[in-house]
Amino acid sequence: MKKRLLSGIKPTGDIHIGNYFGAMRQFVEMQDNYENFVFIADYHAMTTVLDAAELKKNTMEIAKAYLAVGLDPQKVHLFRQSEIEGVTELCWIFNCLTSISTLKLAHAYKDAEAKGKPVNMGLFDYPVLMAADILMYKSDVVPVGQDQQQHIEMAREIAKTFNNTFSDTFKLPEGVIVKTVATVKGTDGRKMSKSYNNTIGLFDSEEVLRKKIMSIVTDSRKPDEPKEPEECNVFALHKLFSIDQVKEISNRYKEGKISYKESKDILFENMNNFLKPIREKKAELDKDEKYVLDVLTQGREAAQKVANQTMSEVKKKVGLI
Ligand code: ADP
Ligand code: TRP
Repeated sequence: MKKRLLSGIKPTGDIHIGNYFGAMRQFVEMQDNYENFVFIADYHAMTTVLDAAELKKNTMEIAKAYLAVGLDPQKVHLFRQSEIEGVTELCWIFNCLTSISTLKLAHAYKDAEAKGKPVNMGLFDYPVLMAADILMYKSDVVPVGQDQQQHIEMAREIAKTFNNTFSDTFKLPEGVIVKTVATVKGTDGRKMSKSYNNTIGLFDSEEVLRKKIMSIVTDSRKPDEPKEPEECNVFALHKLFSIDQVKEISNRYKEGKISYKESKDILFENMNNFLKPIREKKAELDKDEKYVLDVLTQGREAAQKVANQTMSEVKKKVGLI
């Protein structure tokens, strides 16, 4: 029997290659080794996105993006968080077992407070909903980025409290901290992020891709001047897309035998070769949204079965039925 893996992905717009290397690729790599439940965290997205069209669009875009990069619906139950009956009920039950002082320690809340941003109850309660997601499916492993580790810890605490208050019900999930490649840099050299407007989109057209690569910021060293690969934003992307040529390109940098223009041309060629099939698969999915919706429906059915079992057990234990 394979172990059960669960993870949630927040639907975001403008999916970029930082998202791919930092998060998406790992799911695809892990899909053969587990029984996988992966959901699109649309309720969590609502803590910041309060626009129906945007939420809908982002949800479909992220589903298509994962399918385009190779998530296999035969191996992964892919579904929408909000479609599973019981998750918000479980969140409520957990709310009644969670103290406000614990939630005040959560990073997302503390950061928002520190920046003087308004905090809605959804954001404050984010870790409890996440605990409901995690514990509902009795998962063994929960792969997340470093920034989510605290939430896994809180889910484990909530599971313990429930088990102590009622009786042994929930497995304590193990967080697997996904090792990301070093942060992917954007065209301006800062962390690639949609909030910095420095992204290279996973689905950018060839033309846009070329423009963005040509706009990557470099210093002004001449073609025959020696250059420092480790300080170059173009070279940082060669490490991801030009794996076989990295050594050679690095030597040419140091020896002053390559211009930034040529380095960018090589990068364009390699990135385009890598992104082309992903772009094409996405275009196919854009034309066949019914297929995507069918995948989500199948995923929902599998997830709902598990959720029903958990909820009937939980409701009996707490005295609701
Ligand atoms: P953005 O910073 O563009 O808003 P998100 O916060 O929506 O991106 O990130 C979604 C996922 O992609 C997270 O798991 C995050 O760690 C990963 N990610 C985002 N940007 C990068 C990057 N530049 N390098 C590596 N991983 C990234
Ligand atoms: N909070 C996670 C993020 O921002 C997404 C998420 C929601 C999640 N529920 C989850 C991840 C349950 C793992 C397990 O990336």
